[in-house]
Amino acid sequence: MGQIVPDAIERYLAGLNRAGDPVLDSIAAGNATRGLPLVDAEVGALLRVLATTLSASRILEIGTAIGYSGIWLARALAPGGMLVTMEFDEDRAREARANFERAGVADRVSVVVGDAQLKLAKVSGPFDLIFQDGDKKLYTPLLDRLVALLRPGGLLITDNVLWDGEVVPGFQTAPRQNPEDTRAIIEYNQRVAAHPQLLTSIVPLRDGVSISVKTS
Ligand SMILES: C[S@@+](CC[C@H](N)C(=O)[O-])C[C@H]1O[C@@H](n2cnc3c(N)ncnc32)[C@H](O)[C@@H]1O
Repeated sequence: MGQIVPDAIERYLAGLNRAGDPVLDSIAAGNATRGLPLVDAEVGALLRVLATTLSASRILEIGTAIGYSGIWLARALAPGGMLVTMEFDEDRAREARANFERAGVADRVSVVVGDAQLKLAKVSGPFDLIFQDGDKKLYTPLLDRLVALLRPGGLLITDNVLWDGEVVPGFQTAPRQNPEDTRAIIEYNQRVAAHPQLLTSIVPLRDGVSISVKTS
């Protein structure tokens, strides 16, 4: 459970959101003891709604991990669409590929293994939707490149922008997050809010999800 939305409300939302997807359910169940920082099913459902609304045919994700959010996104692609997802860690990328196979979406997913800072220079846009869920310290350095890769009207969605509430000084009496990451997210939120090509709303779901539309 997150630190922003009260547990009872998170349980209520989870009770309503029954995707009934055995692969997603098994990844989430397996991660209960492992503790990788995957989105939860409520954020997955939000990604699915947004991608479906756009009829997205090209989606880019930074931070594949083992493919959980990627499966939500890939299932929402328009027919013939493609998800490009980037992961630094080779073992996680291998596991993600296996999960994409299990979910039956491997034919529409390209897993790019390596540092997104370098790999993004070689990717061509435009994308309909970009999901930023990689290294928090890279959120700001990668922002302008991601905006350039997005089509006008496309969405940049970023996870963890409230960071257990630690972006608000004093919200947590005993902060647990790396202070460098916290500072990086605070800077990112300010940059996104002031960005001349983005209109942004932050949804305080789970750990905070920002949704920005590219206006020009
Ligand atoms: C929060 S996890 C992603 C979770 C995934 N989006 C999900 O919800 O299922 C972040 C991932 O980004 C990867 N990562 C960190 N820095 C990266 C970089 N520079 N390039 C590519 N991937 C990176 C990490 O190895 C980690 O697996």
